[in-house]
Amino acid sequence: MTPINSVGVIGSGLMGSGIAQVAAQAGCQVRVRDTAIGQLQKGRASIEKSTAKLVEKGKILASDRDAALSRLEFTTDLGQLALSDLIIEAITEDLDLKNQIWSELDRLCPPHTIFASNTSSLTIAAMAVATTRPDRFAGLHFFNPVPLMTLVEVVRSVGTSQETVDRLFAFARQAGKEPVAARDSSGFIVNLLLVPYIFDAIRAVERGVASIQDLDTAMRLGASHPMGPLTLADFVGLDTLARIGDIMFDEYRETRYAPPPLLTRMVIAGFQGRKNGRGFYDYSQEPPRPSELGL
Ligand code: CAA
Ligand code: NAD
Repeated sequence: MTPINSVGVIGSGLMGSGIAQVAAQAGCQVRVRDTAIGQLQKGRASIEKSTAKLVEKGKILASDRDAALSRLEFTTDLGQLALSDLIIEAITEDLDLKNQIWSELDRLCPPHTIFASNTSSLTIAAMAVATTRPDRFAGLHFFNPVPLMTLVEVVRSVGTSQETVDRLFAFARQAGKEPVAARDSSGFIVNLLLVPYIFDAIRAVERGVASIQDLDTAMRLGASHPMGPLTLADFVGLDTLARIGDIMFDEYRETRYAPPPLLTRMVIAGFQGRKNGRGFYDYSQEPPRPSELGL
């Protein structure tokens, strides 16, 4: 099987920067594209911070960190990614935005380049149709924070070839991850179960069952979850979470996937969670304090 040696990553937000990091650590040449220089600088800074932490904890050697960083390039020019073996897209969860990028990349990249979306909830087939390579189009769903979470869902859609699936499984393993196979249905495996759980927690807060902090403490200590559900919502990004809920509700028409009104209002008011410092918790202070939210 032809190995993946070069990777183009679209988006240098929470997920794109993590994906670029693990691909570079796996020995690939990586080019990251975002629309704004500031966003690229943020992505590079988060990779530097994360790899410094891994060196400090003895998980990787300083020389391997330096080699990985030297394999990373950042650009606003999509054309610079054209010669990649694999393109992984990790931009905002919006089908029209993603498809604009996919049709442009389809014109720029040679036919053998594999296209993979890190979407949480969008239909893979609805992106594949924006290209002329549905057989080389799949979902490759990493988890946040990418450098620490070992799962990757490899999502096969109706047109995806077995060879594409096999190469993505091999790439995920090369990046130190444990791949699982998932079908092209909204939310795949993990979000199908995780998103309604987080939404139930938000609904419990809306109903006054418990405070934000007590609800999180209860799930951490009572169910041994590494984070409570509201901390996790902030961690994922409230804007992203609300978009995921809208898309899953659209697919299944089940109210458990519908974003709770409190979440919708928080997003309207500019609460994006940890990435902008305002969510169910206020991250401007250490330790973060639960937000008031008019509750
Ligand atoms: N890179 C390197 N190191 C990192 C890091 C990163 N990106 N993020 C955290 N760390 C480090 C921390 O700095 C910390 O180091 P120290 O021990 O030296 O302080 C260490 O890892 C452990 O972190 P924490 O002390 O914060 O505590 P933790 O043990 O809770 O681990 C965690 C952090 C792995 C994030 C853990 O809390 C966890 O597993 N949380 C749940 C994450 C989860 O569920 N993710 C899935 C979200 S859903 C999704 O991704 C899909 C979707 O489509 C929305
Ligand atoms: P984010 O908001 O942190 O980052 C999105 C990035 O995409 C931003 O830097 C933005 O500038 C960039 N972008 C927007 N349009 C672009 C374009 N045309 N070209 C290049 N860059 C562009 O979002 P995120 O949390 O990293 O999520 C990205 C994707 O990953 C989404 O599809 C999301 O559903 C998925 N995902 C998110 C998580 C999570 O926990 N946040 C987990 C798994 C998958």
